[in-house]
Formats: sequence, structure tokens, C-alpha cells
Amino acid sequence: MPNISPLRLGVNIDHVATVRNARGGRHPDPLRAALTAIEAGADGITAHLREDRRHIRDNDMERLKAEISKPLNFEMAATPDMVRIALGVQPHAVCLVPERREELTTEGGLDVVGQRDSLAPSIARFNDAGIRVSLFIAADPAQIEMAAQLKAPAIELHTGAWCDAIADDEPARAAEEWRRIVAGAALARSAGLEVHAGHGLDYATAETIAALPQIVELNIGFYMIGEALFVGLGETVRAMRAAMDRGRAKVAAA
Ligand code: PXP
Repeated sequence: MPNISPLRLGVNIDHVATVRNARGGRHPDPLRAALTAIEAGADGITAHLREDRRHIRDNDMERLKAEISKPLNFEMAATPDMVRIALGVQPHAVCLVPERREELTTEGGLDVVGQRDSLAPSIARFNDAGIRVSLFIAADPAQIEMAAQLKAPAIELHTGAWCDAIADDEPARAAEEWRRIVAGAALARSAGLEVHAGHGLDYATAETIAALPQIVELNIGFYMIGEALFVGLGETVRAMRAAMDRGRAKVAAA
């Protein structure tokens, strides 16, 4: 049997904080969601401290870092202020993303090629601090090659365009986006990068992408928090884990 890396599930809890903030109190608590997700089998927790603090707040990051037993992935824009905060929190990992105030969610990948001079010092500081950096990028060869050149240990492939094409019932566009992801995962791995993926994934797309052996981590949030309204967060994490395991089994069988 081929030697296949395990596939980790990172649960993004941002939207528990979105609901909490709607009323300004403490409930529902993103830390409780993180503990529940870990109890149910999550391999890590991801939270995005946005510049406008629309969901996760500084204090959430500190509590997550202090209380959870699995790796914390601190998603952030690579601004000097955010780099300083992340170095203070000392998470297991950071994921650098582009950020625009008016966007509903992280809409595109980071332009590593265009921003190489500004990203390089941040990547170096996290590397020096022993915090694993991943760059959230589209599956574009130039971006992947630049990520490797800048010595980022990992990338996260943006799966949003692929998931949107499936949701919009546009099979030709979905197939094209899927080809990009498959080729991007292979190129990144051959360039020595650890490969993650995320954005817009649900049970079906997570199962499909789990069959790419180069990918070792999926970060999933919005769909799972929505599902949790109906079946509970623990059950959602177990169902997502099962979907990922079904997909991974296809690699073993191939
Ligand atoms: N990965 C990154 C880098 C993201 O920005 C997001 C969205 O916060 C996710 C994964 C999770 O995406 P979704 O919430 O659509 O599952």
C-alpha cells in the first residue's frame, strides 16, 4: 500500500464569534466551540483575527491559545500590527491571507508574486519564531513557486472558486478549477511545500479533495457552523471526518 500522509481537519470557528457578536454578549463562546470540535476529532482550530475584529477578537485568540490542546492556526493579514499580535500569542501556525474591509469573506488568494518584498520579512520572522507559516493562494504556478522561493513551509490552496462553480451548477468551470487544484497540489509538493486547502468546502467537496494525496490539511468553517445548527457541532465534526476518511481511502485503493 502506498505511504499516504494523514489528512488533518482544522475547524474554523470564526462564525461562532459572528453569532456571539450579534448580541454583544459572551454566548455562544468560540472557545467552547473549539473544545467541542476537538473533543469530536478536530486536529486543530483556525481563527481569523481580522483588522476590523468583526468576529474573532484579540482576547479570543489569547483564550484559544491558553485553553486548547490541539494546534491553533492564527489566520491574519500580514500587516505590521497583526504580525506583532501573532508573535505575542505564539500560535502553532499562522496563515497569511489578503484582507479587504468591505469583503464578506476572504475572496481571493494572496498575491505572493506582487507582494514578495513586503511578505518576505513577515515570513522570515515567523520562521525564526518557530511558527509555521502558510500562504493562502490560488492554485497558480507562479504564486506557488514564489511561496517556495520565500521559504514559506506551507501553502493553503484556495478552493473557493471550485466550490462556487459546483454550487452554481457550472460543471465546465468546476472541472477547470479542479484541474488547477490537482496540478497546483502536485507542483507545490514537488517544490517541497506542505499543502493545505480550504474555503467553501462542504461534506461532498471535502470528500473529493481528500483524495489528493499531497494535501495534508483542510481548513473548514462556514458550512460546518451552519450544519451545527441542525445536528450539533460534535456530530458535524464527526461527519466531516468521515467524509474526509472516505475520500482518503480512495488514494489507498488507487
Ligand atoms: N482557509 C482560509 C485561509 C480562509 O480564509 C477561510 C475562511 O475564513 C477558510 C479556510 C474557511 O473557509 P469556509 O469558512 O468557507 O469553510
